[in-house]
Amino acid sequence: MLLELCRWVQYSPPLVAMRGSPILFPIVATIHLMGLAVVGGSVLLVDLRLLGLGLRRQPVAVLARDADRWLFRGLVVMVSTGILLFMCFATKYYYLTFFWVKMAALCAVIAFTVSVRRRIIMGHEGGVSAASGRLVALVSLALWTTVALGGRYIGFP
Ligand code: HEM
Repeated sequence: MLLELCRWVQYSPPLVAMRGSPILFPIVATIHLMGLAVVGGSVLLVDLRLLGLGLRRQPVAVLARDADRWLFRGLVVMVSTGILLFMCFATKYYYLTFFWVKMAALCAVIAFTVSVRRRIIMGHEGGVSAASGRLVALVSLALWTTVALGGRYIGFP
């Protein structure tokens, strides 16, 4: 069923046209990578702060309020360009384990970011232990690294 849908999408006229163009896929892939820089930067800013590295004069909650706005914008770029890249060679990615590892890690890190990580950040100045802040930062960084590595591996199977 899902494979049929992938085949239908991949051979639909807009995606055939995108594959036929020598520049469209590389442009979308480049925008995907630029979105990665925004997501990576906004995640690192807060997680390194939670690890006690950098920007220590800034309360974590204040830092996260601004960084999370960029994280959301970066995610919108990543998901929209990612779906386009996927649809272009959907039947190829369908069989790539790393693609499904990446998608699972992406769902896990988004759920973690809006729940546990947000609670720890909001409670950081108010009594949440520094140790739990560090643990949350390490989990967040590990999940995002899994997403990025998954992306790298699907680009070059
Ligand atoms: C924030 C979330 C995401 C991150 C951090 C991410 C990261 C990456 C990275 C690092 C690459 C390798 C780029 C390269 O080396 O050329 C990549 C490629 C790719 N990503 Fe994502 N990605 C994200 C979301 C998505 C989503 C939601 C999808 C699809 C639904 C997707 C589909 C793809 C595809 C198909 C490629 C391979 C392109 C190729 O064959 O060169 N990505 N991604």
